[in-house]
Amino acid sequence: MKDKILVIGGYGKVGQVICKDLGSKFPGKVIAAGRNFEKAERFTQTTGENVIPLEFDLFANNAKNKILKQASIVVMCIDQSDTNFIKDCLINGIHYIDITASYSILSKIEALNYTAKESDATAVVSVGLSPGLTNLLVQHSKSYFDTIDKADISLMLGLGEKHGKAGIEWMIDNINASFEVVEDSRKKKVKTFEDGRKTTFPDNIKDRTVYRFNFAEQHILPKTLHIKSVSNRICFDSRFVTASFALLKKLGILNVLKVKLIRNATVRIFENVHLGSDLFSAKVEASGKKDGKATEFECSVIGKNESRITGKVAAILTEFMYTKEYPSGVYHIEQIVSCQDIIEQLPEDIKFYVNRKRT
Ligand SMILES: NC(=O)c1ccc[n+]([C@@H]2O[C@H](COP(=O)([O-])OP(=O)(O)OC[C@H]3O[C@@H](n4cnc5c(N)ncnc54)[C@H](OP(=O)(O)O)[C@@H]3O)[C@@H](O)[C@H]2O)c1
Repeated sequence: MKDKILVIGGYGKVGQVICKDLGSKFPGKVIAAGRNFEKAERFTQTTGENVIPLEFDLFANNAKNKILKQASIVVMCIDQSDTNFIKDCLINGIHYIDITASYSILSKIEALNYTAKESDATAVVSVGLSPGLTNLLVQHSKSYFDTIDKADISLMLGLGEKHGKAGIEWMIDNINASFEVVEDSRKKKVKTFEDGRKTTFPDNIKDRTVYRFNFAEQHILPKTLHIKSVSNRICFDSRFVTASFALLKKLGILNVLKVKLIRNATVRIFENVHLGSDLFSAKVEASGKKDGKATEFECSVIGKNESRITGKVAAILTEFMYTKEYPSGVYHIEQIVSCQDIIEQLPEDIKFYVNRKRT
């Protein structure tokens, strides 16, 4: 029967959270897929057999058709460079969710809107923490204003957390990126780990300097929420490590990460060395007009374990799509659910703050 939720990368750091949450709600319906059957089986045994293990390599032409015959929704937890598999899903009427943070693939998925509509399938992208919850924080901020002009998104990641390999690789591969942002409706070229900006995160994290990073929201939100300026910046829980990255970038030393051997060794260091906390925080500082006056609005989330929150957001959205009707087409998360819809379902230890200021 075509009623399975197929999670590709399902026993990875984020995929495990998605599979566990959905497996407990829909036992026997969730498939955790990856290239190694033993790893898949070992993981599914921890779910009380609620989740089904599957050996599946997305980039090999193995049992793809057989798998798609069973799936009602595919949740993608690995990065792809083309949309061939996604097209196959949509043409077969299978709904599709993607947690990738890469705008290069997200922009290609956006172009499948017509394919999805023709096949009565729904694809939702920008799912997770960043992109994901950050898009929804901007959506929430926008609702406060009569007109919103600017949204600055800041993300703090804890280096004490055991991040998944695919996520670490994505970060390292983007450290030397140059990219365009939209400022005052004009394109401007910027570079990763430059253009530091001070911000204050909630609770005990306090003041931090955050630096440009090539997250997808700044490319998406000017289009979906019609905002003239959007930026993404990042820092780590350790001020020392953040400042060191900014300095090494300035000195050009991070260019060594373009050498494969050094890049792979750095990924391994981040996989195995965990110095610091497992806290994360995402914050949006927005400005615009309300009742004719210049106004600022801030909102933020704070919690532990960035992979867990990414998985939680993806699991909530997948449950919505599995149990409710959504319009066909390709959507970013902020176009299909409200911030409140997701925040209400998150575990209580993830805190949500709002702060309004008249200027
Ligand atoms: N939106 C957000 O906020 C957010 C946050 C964190 C991460 N992410 C993204 O989420 C993705 C997963 O991150 P993660 O931390 O969970 O990484 P991870 O722990 O490395 O998990 C990736 C999983 O994919 C499997 N996999 C790799 N290649 C595969 C292939 N060809 N076919 C099938 N399965 C394959 C891996 O298992 P095998 O190697 O055994 O196959 C592994 O289980 C990354 O793309 C990351 O950038 C997004």
